[in-house]
Amino acid sequence: MDLGGIDLTTEVVRTDRLLLRPFREDDVEAVLAGCQDPDVQRWINIPVPYTRADALAYVLEDSPAERRAGAGTNLAIEVDGTVVGSTGVHRIGQHPMGPEIGYWLAPSARGRGYAAETTHALAEWALGLGAHRVYLVADVRNTGSQAVARRAGFTQEGVLRSYLAYRDGSRGDAAVFSRLPTD
Ligand SMILES: CC(C)(COP(=O)(O)OP(=O)(O)OC[C@H]1O[C@@H](n2cnc3c(N)ncnc32)[C@H](O)[C@@H]1OP(=O)(O)O)[C@@H](O)C(=O)NCCC(=O)NCCS
Repeated sequence: MDLGGIDLTTEVVRTDRLLLRPFREDDVEAVLAGCQDPDVQRWINIPVPYTRADALAYVLEDSPAERRAGAGTNLAIEVDGTVVGSTGVHRIGQHPMGPEIGYWLAPSARGRGYAAETTHALAEWALGLGAHRVYLVADVRNTGSQAVARRAGFTQEGVLRSYLAYRDGSRGDAAVFSRLPTD
């Protein structure tokens, strides 16, 4: 496997309502704003406080480097030309668990099914390109993210105890979800 040879620098995924496409420099403000949200800061390992320099590095350095390496891609979630969140496929070809999907939405874009639509589409994209499985992990306390996984057609496989490490030194148990081509 696993998605080898795909040019991640140009890949876009379209759904009924969304465009998932590589980040651009003019997305920095949307990333900066979204990453101020307490839930994003709680559940995703980003620097806190999250600064413009962090958003710039994410958009202009880290994401392009990951794409060039073929290891993964961070994608802006766009609705009618507005960036409402971020999703990504990571660890491509690097881990037998399969490519990993992650996501966050700006608070104003929640409750509309965008995360589930995004995650379903990204899973279809990866499986369609030959991935044997895709997975995601969510803290067992993050009920919203687990609901996204189920709505996106993922099946819970189990719980990895003390898998997640947080900035404050605490740890969290992770619910593991996957989708297979046969699901
Ligand atoms: C996790 C997160 C992305 C979930 O966002 P969300 O908006 O609840 O997820 P969805 O986009 O799938 O929306 C689902 C909700 O929209 C509703 N909805 C409205 N229209 C819908 C539609 N057309 N299709 C599906 N759902 C729809 C659903 O009923 C559901 O509502 P519910 O919360 O009452 O069940 C968001 O809370 C977030 O960004 N959290 C912080 C970061 C984070 O935790 N990331 C994941 C780390 S593992």
